[in-house]
Amino acid sequence: MVEQSRHDDILVLTIHNPPVNAFSPGVPEGLKAGLSAAAADDRIAAVVLIGGGRTFVAGADIKTFGLPREQAPDLRGTVQQLDAFPKPTVAALHGTALGGGLELALACSYRVAVPDARLGLPEVKLGVLPGAGGTQRLPRVVGAQKALDMMLSGAPIQATEAKELGLVDDLIEGGLLEGALAFARRVAAVRPLPRISERAVDGGSPEVFAAAREAIKKTHRGQLSPSLIIDLAEMAVNRPFEEGWQAEAQKFMEARESPQSRGLRHLFFTERESAKIPGLGKDTPLLDIRRVGVIGAGTMGGGIAMNFLNAGLPVTIVETTEEALDRGLGVIRRNYESSAKKGRLSADDVERRMALLTPSLDMGDLKDADLIIEAVFEDMGVKKDIFTRLDALAKDGAILATNTSTLDVNEIAAVTSRPEQVIGLHFFSPANVMKLLEIVRAENTSDTVLATCMALAKKIGKVGVVVGVCDGFVGNRMVHRYGEEARRLVDEGASPADVDAAMNALGLPMGPFQMTDMAGLDIGYAIRVHRARQRGEPEPDGWLDRIVKTGRKGQKTGGGIYDYDETRRPRPNADMQALIEAYRAEKGITPRSISADEITRRLTGTLINEGARILDEGIAQRAGDIDVIYIYGYGFPAYRGGPMHYAGEQGLQKVVDALKQYGHTPAPLLERLAREGKTFADFDRERANSSQK
Ligand code: COA
Repeated sequence: MVEQSRHDDILVLTIHNPPVNAFSPGVPEGLKAGLSAAAADDRIAAVVLIGGGRTFVAGADIKTFGLPREQAPDLRGTVQQLDAFPKPTVAALHGTALGGGLELALACSYRVAVPDARLGLPEVKLGVLPGAGGTQRLPRVVGAQKALDMMLSGAPIQATEAKELGLVDDLIEGGLLEGALAFARRVAAVRPLPRISERAVDGGSPEVFAAAREAIKKTHRGQLSPSLIIDLAEMAVNRPFEEGWQAEAQKFMEARESPQSRGLRHLFFTERESAKIPGLGKDTPLLDIRRVGVIGAGTMGGGIAMNFLNAGLPVTIVETTEEALDRGLGVIRRNYESSAKKGRLSADDVERRMALLTPSLDMGDLKDADLIIEAVFEDMGVKKDIFTRLDALAKDGAILATNTSTLDVNEIAAVTSRPEQVIGLHFFSPANVMKLLEIVRAENTSDTVLATCMALAKKIGKVGVVVGVCDGFVGNRMVHRYGEEARRLVDEGASPADVDAAMNALGLPMGPFQMTDMAGLDIGYAIRVHRARQRGEPEPDGWLDRIVKTGRKGQKTGGGIYDYDETRRPRPNADMQALIEAYRAEKGITPRSISADEITRRLTGTLINEGARILDEGIAQRAGDIDVIYIYGYGFPAYRGGPMHYAGEQGLQKVVDALKQYGHTPAPLLERLAREGKTFADFDRERANSSQK
């Protein structure tokens, strides 16, 4: 794993652990052996550390985080050996020097890098902290403020910036190894050896740390590792290196063992797994998507179009009236201009993107598009009409996609002569912002169309997850049950604010009723009316339906379940509370007080239960996919790993018990896994194994 090669009086240690040279078992052993050999050999004047393949070490091996400490690869020991090494050591960086990779480099005497290398300490994103000296060394090089920025955001910086900060000693323009060897020869005789651990920290006033502690209340609400990082960075300022180094080891273990870190690590792997589709090989041919058509310039259609414009793809957007088209274009332009005002885009970028957009009133203008996405309102008749026309005019091989969130994609595909080209692309509102894309695989969707859409999702910066056809697909089907249970809780005596507060405390930025007010009460109402009619049931008449009928439709009408001030902060409305009380009285319900714990258990329980059904029916491929959908589409806190992972953290039997206690029938799959003492991760493994057989 670590190759030793001599270049005159320099020993080069090359780390080979593809794809990203993570610090896996074998790497520390190889490095330590190489360093010991170099120390003992008088002919060696200096050592260069470099990564083989596409990158320097991109971090600790996250897969080993579950191992007992003694069995984990000895990163700290390697770092200590480097820090105490009697000869100059040079880290030669390319690709990404992240986490443990940067910590190794920081323990070397010098760092050189190619200009496009990226350096960072992203541990916070995994709910941990730099555990091999990073919290103590980085502030000693770049100062307290910059180190806090880097460690709390987890975002890497470019080598060019690192050079300005003194984190990199030299930029290498040509071949990295040759440059690093030349550098090593230049410094081979320099003594004393520079050691970051012996330096002091710049700019570590108490105010810097107080401000950081204040800031994380907003940016990392409810999370453990950011505050540990701040404590440790402060120790780097105020305490001897050795003391900070020891404290870091202990706090790293504390963070590593936390449910938050388990949740974030689960997300790291499951997000990458969700990009893989069983049965679809890497060699599945992809279609070349060069021109996109969008039908409908409303909020959804406009947002969808922006994704492709941002990625440099020309879009033709079609509407039925001049007014609707003008309005849609106006919204897109305003969105871009507001990004420009915030400094996220230049004025040129705005114009470049708008220039890629062609407005049209004629669907015939979509005849050259490689992908056409329909984003009109949810009406099967209208959609069928559009797809019949698309079938007649779209070029051969074009992908025909619907953005429906509830309708049957098979039925839509059936009106065309090419159902294999039809797919659902379910964007989430606002479509230019939300990262999730449910990719709905219909009965006849071809592998090529599916694989092309997965690749396209990545290109436009979305997390694409494959789902099957059913009412609401994965996300909306689950949120529907969740909404029902939330309303039941209010029926029984909780206030909407109690319900939302419990979910906010769990880490969701919005509870179910805050979400309803934002989406518009009329939307959910229309769905409930539609469903009731379909089932021949009476018109819905719950307390929420009654609020809609008062004309309060949520934030867009200035109020719904709550009132809103200019800051859009919800405030309970006394009339609405009275309406709820009158409703309960009419139904003969004696309200009872409901604890936050009960609210959380019931709401997460209904999500998990519906998730289990979805999984059993094969609508989602994996429980992990459901977690990805819920985190990126519905604001479930990443540090809880998504609802299905959260179920495992609670213990599935507890989830089953809560469902039964509150009158629900647990899904058979959930009951089976609970009985067998398993988690949904076990189920994912079982399914993966059986599909490989
Ligand atoms: N430990 C274990 N496996 C890792 C890993 C790590 N630190 N970093 C990446 N991998 C694996 C991924 O799971 C993926 O495996 P797969 O192909 O089986 O799905 C593979 O390496 C490639 O990673 P991917 O993220 O798909 O590649 P990329 O080119 O888009 O991004 C990185 C590369 C390094 C930027 C990205 O993987 C990353 O950010 N890794 C984590 C770095 C980190 O947090 N380090 C600190 C750990 S404390």
